Amino acid sequence: TLPKKITIIEVGPRDGLQNEKQFVPTEIKKQFIQELRNAGIMEMELTSFVSPKWVPQMGDAAEIVLDCLDDQTRNIVLAPNRKGIDRIYSTSCKAVAVFVGVSDSFNKKNINKSTSESMAELKPIIQELKEKGYFVRACISTAFYCPYEGKINENDTIQLCRNFVETGVDELSVADTIGMAAPNEAYSLFVKLKEAFPKTLLTAHFHDTRKLGLANIFACLQAGIDRFDTSAGGLGGCPFAPGASGNTATEDVVYMLERMGIVTGIDLSKLLVAIELVRPYVSRKIESSYYRLHAQN
Ligand code: HMG
Ligand code: MG
Repeated sequence: TLPKKITIIEVGPRDGLQNEKQFVPTEIKKQFIQELRNAGIMEMELTSFVSPKWVPQMGDAAEIVLDCLDDQTRNIVLAPNRKGIDRIYSTSCKAVAVFVGVSDSFNKKNINKSTSESMAELKPIIQELKEKGYFVRACISTAFYCPYEGKINENDTIQLCRNFVETGVDELSVADTIGMAAPNEAYSLFVKLKEAFPKTLLTAHFHDTRKLGLANIFACLQAGIDRFDTSAGGLGGCPFAPGASGNTATEDVVYMLERMGIVTGIDLSKLLVAIELVRPYVSRKIESSYYRLHAQN
């Protein structure tokens, strides 16, 4: 039986915008976050505390967090290293996401370290965050395929997840970074993860490069997964993963799930308001089916 209710983790303000070359005004980002909350989003990645030299779009992370925290939503911010964590400590944010690729080549391009070097740096950081009472999420990139190394061995992904679980993370967000996973691969991996880590929140993060996001999400539902990272308008992509297009669009996922009788808590017409707000500031065309059929212009 499929889950009756699922949680959407909206990644639009972070994954959705980080790949945009043109700087989106901080004020627009704040309004975008507010409109997403109005639409019913309860968990959201707000921004990332990464090097502004590497990702200029996220250079306003501190300002975003200063104005956009609230008590009702789980507000997650990303950090790749100690410097990012220290920047987070100077804010009131209480939920942190760290990120590592299964693939060494990808991890080097993304955070200039091998996977094991990253893990060695993050381990004490995660333990410290947990002692301080933070919610900790680990984003596992290139869990299926890598733009540099090709197919990733399922056991390597499971082993990296295990390292994070043993370190004490609350959540694993397992990502198909370049949108190459097929539904049978998604099903196979998530069944194993669910069996291996029954006490950890398990979230699936699909990029929709080959339009397999919805099919992969359906496969994950069958594996018992009830948490999905999605991005309003289908925006997104990692600047260091060539071929990564946007995340599966929140509105298409919500539409499919609601049609299946699965509760999401998200209001589609209000979601369109959020998308309309950022649309003039992004280079990517909004290509989701729901937007195409229902937007007013
Ligand atoms: P580096 O150049 O090796 O770092 O980059 P460094 O320690 O040598 O520092 C270089 C400069 O950056 C220094 O400044 C540092 O202070 C500064 P300078 O002395 O030259 O003026 N710096 C920082 N500034 C602010 N915040 C920080 C920070 N760290 C260093 N946290 C580094 C290493 C990790 C910093 C860099 O590679 C980086 O920022 N990478 C982030 C890349 C990124 O944001 N990728 C996208 C997010 S992951 C993703 O999208 C995948 C996901 O969606 C799942 C999926 O789909 O797969 C999650
Ligand atoms: Mg991503």
